[in-house]
Amino acid sequence: MTARIIDGKALSEQVREGVRLRTQALRTKGVVPGLTVLLVGENAASQVYVRNKAAACEKAGMHSRVIQLGADTSEEELLNIIENLNEDPGVHGILVQLPLPGHIDTGLVIETISAAKDVDGFHISNAGLLMTGRPLFRPCTPYGIMKMLESENAVVRGAEAVIVGASNIVGKPMAMLLLAAGATVTLCNSKTRDLGAQTRRADILIVATGRPGIVTGDMIKPGAIVIDVGINRLPDGKLVGDVDFESARQVAGAITPVPGGVGPMTIAMLLVNTIEAAERSTAS
Ligand code: GUN
Repeated sequence: MTARIIDGKALSEQVREGVRLRTQALRTKGVVPGLTVLLVGENAASQVYVRNKAAACEKAGMHSRVIQLGADTSEEELLNIIENLNEDPGVHGILVQLPLPGHIDTGLVIETISAAKDVDGFHISNAGLLMTGRPLFRPCTPYGIMKMLESENAVVRGAEAVIVGASNIVGKPMAMLLLAAGATVTLCNSKTRDLGAQTRRADILIVATGRPGIVTGDMIKPGAIVIDVGINRLPDGKLVGDVDFESARQVAGAITPVPGGVGPMTIAMLLVNTIEAAERSTAS
């Protein structure tokens, strides 16, 4: 069997077209949805991500602003900027690109963003709302993965879902979304004793570790849906995921490619969260 390839790029374009239409509708009411992205320091990968996010906003008709700050920006300066953005009615979404330089307390920065503008869904209040089944903003990558599963007509209810990687950004919120959709969820971490024994039980396997090739074809249940969140640059410059694509595609029923899988969906869902923030701001 050769797996079906889940085309994240095509699906993300559909989602983005929906956002564009909603943006147009808001604009007729005099509201221009706006996202402000804060980038601290010179991390090359972050710069690419931020550029892509800003370009996607503009393509959808939204206003986007990138505030680039030096690596030596103090925590206090950053918190002041966020507080001003919290008060700015033209800013519907605020995103602080991670990672931040070591002298800045990431948790404090995220908690300073107004939960109503936290389009990343990382604020402790948004994490709590998600955990208790009343999500306001869902973190973009897990949210995009749920959309991909939906587009595949995947049966989530009652399925065995195994997530490899327990980060706050992907693994933990992913577990909450799958649980809410009725899956039986296993969340693996770097201490998991026999990873293959876990992954081989998965009808839906999500891998988000940042370790290229951590999951190989022999660790996959035949016919499983495999979602690869990893984006790793190899020494030869090649971009690969966390799943060994060539061996996995021989076993899986469907699989996301890298690039062109989860990545474009993350950006699309950021736009969805931003338009929702803007729509909410006009409803009140
Ligand atoms: N760094 C890597 N992924 C993300 C993300 O989804 N949001 C933010 N803010 N920073 C990131």
